[in-house]
Amino acid sequence: MQNLEHKERPIGVFDSGIGGLTVVKEIRKVLPKEAIIYFGDSARVPYGTKSKETILRFAREDVKFLQRFNVKVIVAACFSVSSNALEELRKETSIPIIGMIGPGINNILEKSYKKIGIIGTQATITSKTFERVLKNKLKGIKIYSKACPLFVPLVEEGWFSGKVPELVAEEYLAPLLDNNIEALILACTHYPLLYPTIKKIIGEKVDIIEPGKEVAIFLKKFLENNNLIGFGRNSLSLYFSDIPRDFRKIIKNFLGTYPRKIHLVNVEN
Ligand code: DGL
Repeated sequence: MQNLEHKERPIGVFDSGIGGLTVVKEIRKVLPKEAIIYFGDSARVPYGTKSKETILRFAREDVKFLQRFNVKVIVAACFSVSSNALEELRKETSIPIIGMIGPGINNILEKSYKKIGIIGTQATITSKTFERVLKNKLKGIKIYSKACPLFVPLVEEGWFSGKVPELVAEEYLAPLLDNNIEALILACTHYPLLYPTIKKIIGEKVDIIEPGKEVAIFLKKFLENNNLIGFGRNSLSLYFSDIPRDFRKIIKNFLGTYPRKIHLVNVEN
């Protein structure tokens, strides 16, 4: 880690597209005086269906782009990146990179769950990174995971509730419920938008874990511990590699507010 003394440098956040804005939303709640630079690779989304090698190649370019802004820390707000490319990315840059997996499950460690479900993209689930980290920290824990590839396009279509998402959720979640999970980790940037639908299917007895909230708290602690908390004006600069139709409206679904300005960039080497 280097150059940790400049508090006023921005925080860099990146994701395969708009999904990481759900994490930005949480970060802004706990860190209201920071400048955030967000990059979403909307031209190459989804990452969750791609191979580890491709995810790493794209993520390298995303990180390189954020480095141009002299960011003090980078949040890899994409679970597919966090589970497939984080170790390599960390070796290649001196800027601290916070991923969604370790800090994202901090609150689980205090509970005494015996059976946990994890849902995410194909890339996140196949990597088994979440499973490894959880099993390391919680001896004897049983983990049931399920890739839910249709959730991402449903959310991007703005289809969060109603018959179709409920039917899809029922189908995906049935095997996890059959195993009597006590908690379900939403290991994908898009899934917090499906919270009410997922809750309806899994019922009150199963807790929902949203790593984005935990990552925001972890980031705050990290900045505090390194004397890096910013005291400036809250700002969010949005960069995307593509600006498709209705983008501002879709962004609002994730961020809670309409974006003021969106910048188009090409990060490919
Ligand atoms: N951001 C991705 C994730 O959290 C979901 C979208 C994608 O597949 O790229 O895994």
